[in-house]
Amino acid sequence: MSGFSARTDFPRTWNRLAQSLAERKARGEPLADLTESNPTRVGLPQPDPSLLATPTAFTYAPEPLGLLSAREAVARHLASRGAAVSPEHLILSASTSEAYGWLFKLLCEPGDNVLVPAPSYPLFEYLTRLENVEVRPYRLPRAHGFGLDVEEVAAARDACSRAVLVVNPGNPTGHYLHEGELAALAKLCVDSGLALISDEVFSDFAWDTEPDRVARVAGRSLPMLTFSLSGLSKVAGLPGLKLGWTHVNGPSVARDEALARLEWVADTFLSVGTPVQQALPALLAHAPRFQAALLERVRDNRRRLVAARPSGATWDVVPAHGGWSAVLRIPREPGEEATCLALLDAGVAVQPGYFYDFAGGAFLVLSLLPPADVFEAALGPLVRELAR
Ligand SMILES: Cc1ncc(COP(=O)(O)O)c(C=O)c1O
Repeated sequence: MSGFSARTDFPRTWNRLAQSLAERKARGEPLADLTESNPTRVGLPQPDPSLLATPTAFTYAPEPLGLLSAREAVARHLASRGAAVSPEHLILSASTSEAYGWLFKLLCEPGDNVLVPAPSYPLFEYLTRLENVEVRPYRLPRAHGFGLDVEEVAAARDACSRAVLVVNPGNPTGHYLHEGELAALAKLCVDSGLALISDEVFSDFAWDTEPDRVARVAGRSLPMLTFSLSGLSKVAGLPGLKLGWTHVNGPSVARDEALARLEWVADTFLSVGTPVQQALPALLAHAPRFQAALLERVRDNRRRLVAARPSGATWDVVPAHGGWSAVLRIPREPGEEATCLALLDAGVAVQPGYFYDFAGGAFLVLSLLPPADVFEAALGPLVRELAR
């Protein structure tokens, strides 16, 4: 249709799966929903809402980078995770999604591209498109446990590439970056003039330890510009409060220039509300309680899933070290969509791998967040359907 920008010309037709899920929900039929990824809907601990009623909640003190007291709270939170950062190198936004938009404005001319992992979180396609930026996927090879292979990143890059995105740990693959991979990536970034955008929203959610794991890039001095993203959505399970942060680092001249420009972008929007910034120290103090409960939930559900797999089954639970999801490798026939539809008929909702751009096989993605009874209820039909 004329009169509208091409970048907002999104496909709005529902696929068969979304349609069937909506129909089932509308009919009020029972559903074990293993697509639920909203941490506020699964019975996990929440902070006291009165925390948001700070005495000066209605005072407007516009600070483009975010209130210093809030940035200091983020710095303390990161320090408690072993990452030493200066509050001066932090910038607050309403979410990490918004921060991505700001970074694409900062780094890219229209038509430039950023290198994004595949499989991964599906929002990148839209976040880039809205900024007139292209995505060039680089594969996370299955043979490498869906970990980063710098050769794949190098092969995806071209003269218009401006940044590499890493999601650490991966969503939905739950694979962490390792020291050797980061060192190789840093070299590629320096050689090719690329910035590194490191999405660390799940970095606190590891359930085991591995040697050489890079828990986060925040707080590390690398030879290229780095932007480390996280926020309340995952760290404290509070996506509705709309607060994310970006730690900017790298060579000091480039870092300071990036911060000065980002401050200008942020000043144009001033999008983070005052009450949430003022309450941030208390909200982050709640994070460990939320994280402990969530980790117990995902660990238990993962254990249930692994235990439910009959020996000799034609499907596997893909190994992972953290995150909120489990990935199943299933037989190529009848494939992802047909399996998801059959599961829906049996009262279980899961996501197909194509939603996350998996390749080289058929995959399902299950949220590990649902309460034990919901997860247990899904396992019987899941095992039966996958045995057909
Ligand atoms: C890897 C990853 N990054 C970013 C986000 C978005 O988080 P926010 O609510 O801060 O925009 C999500 C949300 O699911 C995510 O999975």
